[in-house]
Amino acid sequence: MNQPDIDWKHLPFGYYPTDYNVRCYFRDGKWGEIEVSQSDKIELHMAATSLHYGQELFEGLKAFRGKDGKIRIFRLEDNGTRLQDSANGILMEPVPADLFREMVIKAVKLNERFIPPYGSGASLYIRPLEIGISPSIGVRSATEYMFMIMVTPVGPYFKTGFGCTDICIMRQYDRVAPRGTGRYKIGGNYAASLAASHHAHEMGYSAVLFLDPKEKKYLDECGPANFFAIIDGKYVTPKSDSILPSITNRALQQLARDMGIEVEERHITVDELEKATEAGACGTAAVISPVGTIHDEDTGKDYVISADRKPGPVCTALYERLNAIRLGEYPDEYGWNTIVE
Ligand code: PLP
Ligand code: COI
Repeated sequence: MNQPDIDWKHLPFGYYPTDYNVRCYFRDGKWGEIEVSQSDKIELHMAATSLHYGQELFEGLKAFRGKDGKIRIFRLEDNGTRLQDSANGILMEPVPADLFREMVIKAVKLNERFIPPYGSGASLYIRPLEIGISPSIGVRSATEYMFMIMVTPVGPYFKTGFGCTDICIMRQYDRVAPRGTGRYKIGGNYAASLAASHHAHEMGYSAVLFLDPKEKKYLDECGPANFFAIIDGKYVTPKSDSILPSITNRALQQLARDMGIEVEERHITVDELEKATEAGACGTAAVISPVGTIHDEDTGKDYVISADRKPGPVCTALYERLNAIRLGEYPDEYGWNTIVE
């Protein structure tokens, strides 16, 4: 296998072109054949619903190369299910589970030479994407859809990797509405978060810890990730209808329980951060990004979670266990990995 000349250990979380992508169209009420393309361009009608009315959704999952040389894709089925939920949420055509699975595996296999080597800390990020392609000027859902999967090798999402990062609370922005689309993985939510993220970055913070959009009382989504904290020795994470149900967070909850740590999914008020001994942003891209300080821009208060700027013991244990499972070094008790034959 002719591996590309990449500095795997210093890969950013960015777009690196790979050899192939896979595509499938929904037309005349049915999904067609899977197509393989070497072009990273698509041709689109200028009145496509995705361009005008935001009919776009995506997913994010990763493939890893283990010490045993095997390729493992983490929680593929769950991403497929969530993609269907997002599709139903904004009236797009859900991609059947079998088609999703076949296309993910195909995209990974075709680009095998871009799967980072074991030990590099990098992974192959898999980005499934669906868009409405039929033209409409009236506000309605499309009759035709394009589903595609591209892959790209990536390093850590937050520059600090598994080092502490600082985040901030700002009340002047909402990412989503209380009964809006926050629980779906659709482009519109990310567009709605850009100004807030930009503001946070300008102030030196890596992400915004959004508060619930109704009362601004409870912790909600953490930029492009879920949030958790260790409070009174428990793994506590927001219960909210306006955050994405993170597959990583669900995995971490299971691993925490396995380690004898109680898990609570509940409303968390801002002032409870005083009691947090550890905190993290979690997601496919973020994995676990331990949080150093949380700055409240409106009150001026700093919640110092990690005074020594080191990841705490629970974050470290969860991170190591999660990685060990994904690399095939710890038993995959819950069947989370799909091994690519
Ligand atoms: N929240 C948002 C807004 C995200 O974009 C992501 C990334 O997918 C997550 C949470 C984490 O979800 P997952 O762990 O399924 O990747
Ligand atoms: C992911 O974690 O997979 C994401 O989609 C986060 C972000 C890059 C949008």
